[in-house]
Amino acid sequence: MAQQKTILRALAGETLPTPPIWMMRQAGRYLPEYRATRAQAGDFLSLCYNPELAAEVTLQPIRRYGFDAAILFADILLLPQALGADLWFVTGEGPRLSTITTPEELGRLKPVEEIHDTLNPVYETVKILAQDLPKETTLIGFAGAPWTVATYIIAGKGTPDQGPAHALKAENRPVFEGIMHRLTEGTIAYLSKQIEAGAECVKLFDSWAGSLEGDDFTEFSIKPMQRITAALKQKHPGIPVIAFPRGAGTKYAGVHAATGADCVAVDDGVDAAWVADHVQKDGCVQGNLASAHMVTGGQALVDETRRIRDALSGGAHIFNLGHGITPEADPANVQLMIDTLRGG
Ligand code: CP3
Repeated sequence: MAQQKTILRALAGETLPTPPIWMMRQAGRYLPEYRATRAQAGDFLSLCYNPELAAEVTLQPIRRYGFDAAILFADILLLPQALGADLWFVTGEGPRLSTITTPEELGRLKPVEEIHDTLNPVYETVKILAQDLPKETTLIGFAGAPWTVATYIIAGKGTPDQGPAHALKAENRPVFEGIMHRLTEGTIAYLSKQIEAGAECVKLFDSWAGSLEGDDFTEFSIKPMQRITAALKQKHPGIPVIAFPRGAGTKYAGVHAATGADCVAVDDGVDAAWVADHVQKDGCVQGNLASAHMVTGGQALVDETRRIRDALSGGAHIFNLGHGITPEADPANVQLMIDTLRGG
C-alpha cells in the first residue's frame, strides 16, 4: 500500500507541497494540560513510567494542534537508569545521576538484556499510542545518542562544555569506550523494543555533538549513530531513522551518508538556505526555526517560518524547531507557526 502519512512520505524522500510539522518537546511545560497531568503523576519520572499518563501527555499536543507526528513521552536518561545508574531530577536545575568514571563502576552496570525490566512501561506507552493516535499521525520513538548520554553519566548532570566526558576520553580511554559501547548496544536493544511495540520511526538525539571536534565528531557522534542505524535497519527494514547531531555546523554536510540515517535534523545554528544546498541534497532534513520565536511571536515568527519553509521547498523537509520548545513559550505562538506554515 502506498504510504499515506505525510511524515513517512517526507522521510522516504518525497517533496510535499506543505512540509509536515511536529515540534521537539511538544508535550511539555508550556502547555497547561501537561502541567496538570504531571501534577497528577507526582513528578516527571513517575510520569515517564506511567503508561496511561505518558500516553495522555503525548496525545495532548496532537489534540490541540494536529501535529503530523507524536513523539513518545519519555527521556533520554531512562536508558542509563535501566542500566543501573541512579537518576533523579532537581527542581529548577535538571537531571542528576550517579557517575560512572572507573572500571569498577562500569563493571557494575547491568547487562543489556536486563534493561527491559525497567523500560517495559515505556514500551506499554508506545502500545497505547499505536492504538490511540489518529490514523494520519506518525509515532516517533527515540533515544539519546551514546555521546550525549555518556556526557550525563560521566558528569552526573548536564554541563555547559561536557568537560568531564572530554576529560575521561583523554585520561581513561578504555573506560570511556566501555561506556560508549554499552550505551550503543543498549540503545539498539531499547529502540528495537520501541519499534516492536509500534514506533514507526526513531530519532537519535545527539544534543552535545557540537562539542566534539575533528576526528572526535566522526568517532563518537557519527560512528555510534551509524552502528545503531545499521543494526536497526537489519532488524527492522523500512523503519526510518532521524539523526540529530545538534551543533554540528558545517559538519552537517555528509551526515546522511556517514550515518545511513533517512533524515538529518538540523538546529538553528545553520541557515536554511545553506542546509538546502549542503544537506538536503542528500535526503530529508528536519528543522530549524529558533525556539525563541515561540516565546516572542509576532511578525518575526511569521517571516522566519516562511523563509525556512521556502528555502527548503525544493526537497524533502519536515518542519520543526532547532531545539526543544521552552516552558516560557506562548501556546498561541505555536498555532501561529502552524497556520503560517500551512496557510501562507
Ligand atoms: O520531545 C518530546 O516532547 C519527547 C520527550 C522528550 C523529553 N526529553 C521530555 C522531557 C525528549 C525527546 C527528551 C530528550 C532529552 N532529555 C534530551 C535531548 C534533547 C534535548 O533537549 O537536547 C536531553 C538532553 C534530555 C535530558 C533532560 N531531560 C534534561 C536536561 C531535562 C531538564 C530540562 C528542564 O527543562 O528541566 C529533562 C527533563 C524533561 N524531559 C522535561 C521533559 C518534558 C521537563 C520535565 C518536567 O516536566 O519538569
